[in-house]
Amino acid sequence: MCGIVAYIGAKDAYPVLIKGLTRLEYRGYDSAGIALQNGHLNIYKKKGKVSDLEEFTKDKDISGHVGMGHTRWATHGKPDDTNAHPQKGGTGRLVLIHNGIIENYAVLKSALQNKHGHKFVSETDTEVLVHLIEEVQMRENLPLEEAVRQALTQVHGAYAIVVMDKEEPGKIVAARKSSPLVVGIGKGEFLVASDATPIVEHTKNVVYLNDEEVATITLENGLIIKNLRNETTTHTVHEIELEIEQLEKGGYDYFMLKEIFEQPVTIEECMRGRLNAEEGWIRLGGMEEHMKRMVNAQRMIILGCGTSWHAGMIAEYLFEDLARLPVEVEYASEFRYRNPIVRDQDVVLAISQSGETADTFAALELAKERGALTYGIVNVVGSSIARLTHSGSYIHVGPEIGVASTKAFTGQVTMLTMMALILGYERGALPKSRYQELVHELANIPGKVDKLLKNCQKQVEYLAKELMDANNSLYLGRGYNFPVALEGALKLKEISYIHAEGYPAAEMKHGPIALIDENMLVFVIATNKSAHDKVLSNIQEVKARKGIVVAVTTEGDKEIKAIADHTIEIPATEEPFTPLLSVIPLQLLAYHTAVLRGCNVDQPRNLAKSVTVE
Ligand code: G6P
Repeated sequence: MCGIVAYIGAKDAYPVLIKGLTRLEYRGYDSAGIALQNGHLNIYKKKGKVSDLEEFTKDKDISGHVGMGHTRWATHGKPDDTNAHPQKGGTGRLVLIHNGIIENYAVLKSALQNKHGHKFVSETDTEVLVHLIEEVQMRENLPLEEAVRQALTQVHGAYAIVVMDKEEPGKIVAARKSSPLVVGIGKGEFLVASDATPIVEHTKNVVYLNDEEVATITLENGLIIKNLRNETTTHTVHEIELEIEQLEKGGYDYFMLKEIFEQPVTIEECMRGRLNAEEGWIRLGGMEEHMKRMVNAQRMIILGCGTSWHAGMIAEYLFEDLARLPVEVEYASEFRYRNPIVRDQDVVLAISQSGETADTFAALELAKERGALTYGIVNVVGSSIARLTHSGSYIHVGPEIGVASTKAFTGQVTMLTMMALILGYERGALPKSRYQELVHELANIPGKVDKLLKNCQKQVEYLAKELMDANNSLYLGRGYNFPVALEGALKLKEISYIHAEGYPAAEMKHGPIALIDENMLVFVIATNKSAHDKVLSNIQEVKARKGIVVAVTTEGDKEIKAIADHTIEIPATEEPFTPLLSVIPLQLLAYHTAVLRGCNVDQPRNLAKSVTVE
């Protein structure tokens, strides 16, 4: 939610900021804006995408070597030019960009209005923050960083901010709490950004700011970091592994399509060095340190949002089936407000692609406070959730830029499958021979995904044409395929805006069956060996009401092929691994349908990839 980037150095800031904003656009695309220092402050902001801002600045003065940029996902106030960032203070001296939510903004705003006569032009909480900093600064004539620090002690909520002061040229001040912020340290230049993607082409050396830290950056004194208690803090410089090619479309029309086709490689990457098929073992460094506690866990609680929650649902089947470990899967947003029971014998897994989702972070904090062992399954290295957990395993699928998650989902499921196999073996639920058989088959999955992607393309494109004019669709699955049905429906609705519901196949009879008529497309994920006959009956029930059935089946399943209107076949595998295959045609189908409907697949309306507000 909202991307921020800032630059100070010898280069022209404008192209660095615009390129950075393009990289961060997945975080929100309601409006974009920049501010540049060059003796005075030039601020340009526009409703819409970064490309609209570029158009707007064509004939403007864009000179300057210090500046900041913002791409917005609207929270307080509609997406328009006035509510776009940067926001200014009342005197026009300070400018600020912000990612997060200032929860006590209303109280602060009325105090600033009533006691100090401030006037506001936007509806944003961000404008309140910049006015507050200005008020603190003016009262005692403080340097910018000190005014920011003192003002932030009055603020409740989440923020990653960058502030500049017209009276203090050549300085940027940045601070964070609960929203991410990375400082890139180059040769004679610094960048600040919501993630490393705008930084990587300038430097690979970064510092991750901690919560409640204020960074002051000048070319003379470099980077100085203090906490809100005014103590100077020290930081380790990390080297980021990101490559620029990973941030480009590489010949594909959309990032989403590139990411779907990357999956044979990304699943392999997730297993690399961790799974040895020949010797029949899986090892995860993050688990080894805590193996005793994990093996003896009474219960596993899994937290996530969106697609990551669906991966968690699959994990429930995996851990219970393979490791005989009781599991509860929770929406992070519900868990944290429910006064949940967490014991110190519990292991809490947090699943998050970005590692920044506000609800997942807060739920995890709560679980940690209550004594559970916390374990992160995260993609973005160095992200907040990765740093909060006691331990964890990165899924290593590379940057995911399309807002609809694809390769992160299969990376998460691969990781959870490896964890379930390890725990199954260590807890004695899986005999060695069965464990090794499963390890061996898991290693075959990337090859099977590759084959599937090649084989299903034509069929999926054909089905997308059938689906493109639909208003509604149902996705049904049983067992391991129920969460796949949820994920298939989510993919379709979020990028094509066709209403789609995921349901357990048998539950259909308790409601959705009323919706079925000759116009209803029903996707049945029917790869199960167990309960095969039951799924067959569910298909018959849909057919009897004239619904159109598209079945995802296992190669050679003649029975289902005979009754379904359309079938998409996946290669045969062990049942616990089927989600890694059955989800692939559903991702592709959502993609092609959305493209046929003229939708912007990578930036669907109203959504953002990284949800850093609650
Ligand atoms: C947003 C994204 C989804 C993602 C969810 C959770 O809704 O659009 O793709 O699954 O957030 O994000 P996380 O980064 O925690 O996996």
